[in-house]
Amino acid sequence: MFNPSQQKNLWKYTLIAFAIVIVSGSLLYTNYLVKNIAKSERTRAQVWAMSMEQIVGAGDNDISYPIAVRDSVTVPAIVTNEKGEITATKGLDSGRTYIASDLVDKDAPKYDPDYFKNELEIMKAQHEPIRMVIPRAKGLGYGYSIIYYKDSFLLTQLKYFPYVQLSVIAIFLMLAYTVFSSSRRSEQNQVWVGLAKETAHQLGTPISSLMAWIELIKDKYNAEDDQLLAEMGNDVKRLEIVADRFSKIGSKPQLEPHKVFDVVSDFVDYFKVRVSNKITFSVLGNKELMAGLNIPLFDWVIENLLKNAVNAIEGPGSITVEISGSKAKKLIYIDVIDTGKGIPKSKFTTVFQPGYTTRKRGWGLGLSLTKRMVENYHDGHISVKSSEPGKGTTFRIVLKSILNDK
Ligand SMILES: Nc1ncnc2c1ncn2[C@@H]1O[C@H](COP(=O)(O)OP(=O)(O)OP(=O)(O)O)[C@@H](O)[C@H]1O
Ligand SMILES: [Mg+2]
Repeated sequence: MFNPSQQKNLWKYTLIAFAIVIVSGSLLYTNYLVKNIAKSERTRAQVWAMSMEQIVGAGDNDISYPIAVRDSVTVPAIVTNEKGEITATKGLDSGRTYIASDLVDKDAPKYDPDYFKNELEIMKAQHEPIRMVIPRAKGLGYGYSIIYYKDSFLLTQLKYFPYVQLSVIAIFLMLAYTVFSSSRRSEQNQVWVGLAKETAHQLGTPISSLMAWIELIKDKYNAEDDQLLAEMGNDVKRLEIVADRFSKIGSKPQLEPHKVFDVVSDFVDYFKVRVSNKITFSVLGNKELMAGLNIPLFDWVIENLLKNAVNAIEGPGSITVEISGSKAKKLIYIDVIDTGKGIPKSKFTTVFQPGYTTRKRGWGLGLSLTKRMVENYHDGHISVKSSEPGKGTTFRIVLKSILNDK
């Protein structure tokens, strides 16, 4: 069985593998097409050359005479004489066959030497030219014409096609993946918000009855100062807080200005008596810094971090919460520092994914809820600030500070 975060990765890799197969397949195929077309284009240029040879050979034209051949072939080509002077072009510009002078085709647009020279350079770079022998006027022997040609528009387009296709597929996959995962996320959100609210709702009645029962017992047995009843009362209050936390999920909670140090200290005092006394707790730092907090939710954040720290420590150890601030940036830093087993660097962001756990009895939910509560409800940020295997870990919460004039 895969856990959710492994499953997500599996999906990602399957999609990527799929994209690679499509792209390499199409690259191979277009490459094959390009080669074939290039071969046939050279043949066409040769055929054109041969037909011109015949035309020239048939009459007693001088080689300096321009040659005009119209054909349906779209391979752009330029013919020069031995001196390198352009005598004919085809498939360039508007696709017409141009000639060096207006003698043959009076309507032909004027020959622009710069444009054709430029094209000639491109052709020279692309393909080996084709030479052909042309008979001169009677008694003058033979001359040469040289045919340069370049890839047709079609072939050029085809060469770029796989890259266009690659980008389209990449964009499509990215879009599909985002839509897919965001719709799944919002579905999960609804489930978890619903579950939390329902739990809070259902706990409400028995909790208030329990409170009433305790008061009744105190009355009935005249046990106002009974230690056991007092402890029971504390636990019921605690249950009430838990229910209150659940009921706050999903609705924007009210944030009120509080001194972070006091809130953290209160919670640490409550928490530390409930865990092994081999672990020492301390809260240090600036006592005046204030931030907008929702106490039940913020306590939950601190509780999750402290619980994880406790779980990471085997035997004796210490957990320190240090509060500091940056006046310039108007931020508060809450560092939860433990001397536990540490987190490998590669897992610094993974630990926040739901379902990631290394504990036998863990659900891997603690940190993902913590992240939600810090980011969604307190407009803050949480991350692993540093960690060293075997030495300990520091989690850092960053909150916006509220100015405290005192
Ligand atoms: N302070 C820490 N030191 C070392 N590892 C930690 C610490 N905090 C979290 N981790 C690692 O991150 C994992 C995920 O933590 P998270 O709180 O999300 O789940 P969990 O504690 O395993 O289970 P749950 O909180 O749902 O009961 C832990 O299993 C642990 O491997
Ligand atoms: Mg946990």
